[in-house]
Amino acid sequence: MDQVVTCVAPVNIAAIKYWGKRNENLILPLNDSLSLTLDCEQMHARTSVMASPTFQDDIVWLNGHVMSIETNVRLQKCFKLIRDLVKKKKGINCNEAKWKIRICSKNNFPTAAGLASSAAGYACLIYTLATAFDLTDEDLPSIARQGSGSACRSLFGGFVQWQAGIDEFGTDSTAVQIVPETHWPEMRILILVVNDSMKKTSSTSGMKQSVESSELLKYRVDKCVPQRIELIIQAIKDKNFEKFAEITMRDSNQFHAVCLDTYPPCVYLNQVSHKIIQFIHDYNEAIGQTKVAYTFDAGPNAFIFIEEKDLSFFLSELIQVFPSDQPNSYVRGISTTHTNTKYPFGLTQNEKGLLKYIMVTKLGDGPKCDDNHLLDIDGNPS
Ligand code: DP6
Repeated sequence: MDQVVTCVAPVNIAAIKYWGKRNENLILPLNDSLSLTLDCEQMHARTSVMASPTFQDDIVWLNGHVMSIETNVRLQKCFKLIRDLVKKKKGINCNEAKWKIRICSKNNFPTAAGLASSAAGYACLIYTLATAFDLTDEDLPSIARQGSGSACRSLFGGFVQWQAGIDEFGTDSTAVQIVPETHWPEMRILILVVNDSMKKTSSTSGMKQSVESSELLKYRVDKCVPQRIELIIQAIKDKNFEKFAEITMRDSNQFHAVCLDTYPPCVYLNQVSHKIIQFIHDYNEAIGQTKVAYTFDAGPNAFIFIEEKDLSFFLSELIQVFPSDQPNSYVRGISTTHTNTKYPFGLTQNEKGLLKYIMVTKLGDGPKCDDNHLLDIDGNPS
């Protein structure tokens, strides 16, 4: 056990958003949510764990800095829940539950880009700890959830539903895989990283304010999400892109409407985000079919869904409507072909540099272990 265990975990992007908690302490959501897990090849969190009877304290390094555990209630909770699980599995007096733990974690994508880093991070932490302590357990989503709600969805690949559940203690609030990534291998996800430096309200406090003040959130939770979840699951099973795309865009728009209905309002989209929304609708209309969908989380970056067969043409349009102000590495991730022919739809070209870069990725599977350790054999960052 006192050896280094390392795992990577994926980012997930919600098509039906989690926004609002029914229990702040246990991190229980008001509604079901549904997400796509992205391939770890392009983006992942990596965590190394070592537990040993010789360590004096728990230490966590995140992206090169020591994290304060004392001031981080969620992190403390995750440690406690894992140690409780060790006791449950190995006996109340087992020594391993008392061992101190060293953790080193890094994201291979910029945290500052406002991409869902906490979901991948907490999923990776819990999965790696569970592997290190030999705990294969169905309780993992409920532990990851208490680090960051959306983290429970990053424990599975493909399309994942976080079922809100109704139990007051959250025993039935868990993440389940709807279909694996192999069900829809043609699905591509583009992340349009928007140039933006404005400080945003965090998801945690934004959704708390929405629960306290938005009438629209109540309507969304009661009247919209349950039907949408059913419809989108069917669309996914049928690989019906047009249906999937419309539900996804409607849900993103409603989520941001709830944010504006919050008092004081949470504004996550900026002018560039709105230009992207307009562009996607103009593009779909020009083609006469819904070929592309967008969704936005608590930030201005766009997540675009498209099938592989339509990608090259769309990308050519996109980089002409949103030209880069840098000579290279504008399009990153999975290599794609795109022509530079003049766009045929007469869509208005924007000024250069509205987007920092475009990341192209696909669906992926859940967390997994490898040997690229971030800790040396003494438990120090390597
Ligand atoms: C807009 O999971 O970050 O990305 O549970 O408070 O940690 P906490 O919130 P978090 O919220 C994610 C909100 C979202 C939508 C989603 O991913 O479903």
